[in-house]
Amino acid sequence: MGWVRRLPVTKRERLRPRLADSMLTIALSKGKMLDLTLDVFRRAGYALGSLSTESRRLVFPCPEIGMTFLVVRPTDVPTYVEYGAADVGIVGKDVLMEQDSDVYEPLDLKFGACRIAVAALKGQASRDRLSSKIRVATKYPKITERYFNQRGVPVEIIKLYGSIELAPLVGLADRIVDLVETGNTLKAHNLVEVECIAQSTARLVVNRASLKLKHAVVTELIKKLRAVSSAPIGSRTAAPRKSSRGALRTVRRTHK
Ligand code: PRP
Repeated sequence: MGWVRRLPVTKRERLRPRLADSMLTIALSKGKMLDLTLDVFRRAGYALGSLSTESRRLVFPCPEIGMTFLVVRPTDVPTYVEYGAADVGIVGKDVLMEQDSDVYEPLDLKFGACRIAVAALKGQASRDRLSSKIRVATKYPKITERYFNQRGVPVEIIKLYGSIELAPLVGLADRIVDLVETGNTLKAHNLVEVECIAQSTARLVVNRASLKLKHAVVTELIKKLRAVSSAPIGSRTAAPRKSSRGALRTVRRTHK
């Protein structure tokens, strides 16, 4: 389109794309992960002003740091980022594994650590050896299907949206595939972990076009978040030991 270059360009027009290129829209996972995410941004030096987990607001413009934050369901974060409604997102690896979204995943933020595991009622943990089809209740049907398919175990998957541990207790399923962090919920329901499918932590994801069009600001964000994510507890860039531990106790996982 050579003719575009011949049009006179005003100073305002020259500035507009540069300004747009320097603004980032960031999708944050609401729920248990939000406090830890805000803590990481603050430690990275971003002044988040009124952004608070108590608020019912969903959009938080922070023009002074060139960012607008969206607070969305964890399972929606990859969609916002993939379609470019957000340039960047923070979401659990468990969600990314389940959704196979076309996003760039440059950084493990290392908080919200938990695992995706198979569990069964105590005393029934050997039923995987049987050839008959087993019923598995889960929030993660794709991860579950992949896992059992790879092992040649025939399964019927029952999709649930929460309180997965209930399913074996009432005879709805033989197994569950769910997040485990402390293991307390399993224990409280007489369940035992049979196998760990994968580890999960919070990840930074980036829209592929934003990575090119907003390269400078995206790479600066990655650099700053990487610095605080890899810093050992107690180092100058890490959170004070007490608050970090407290956050880990309160915010147990990467999805909700
Ligand atoms: C998650 C997960 C387990 C529990 C595991 O549930 O689905 O139920 O946490 O944590 P633990 O190993 O530390 O006990 P969540 O609280 O997100 O609610 P949900 O069951 O409604 O999904």
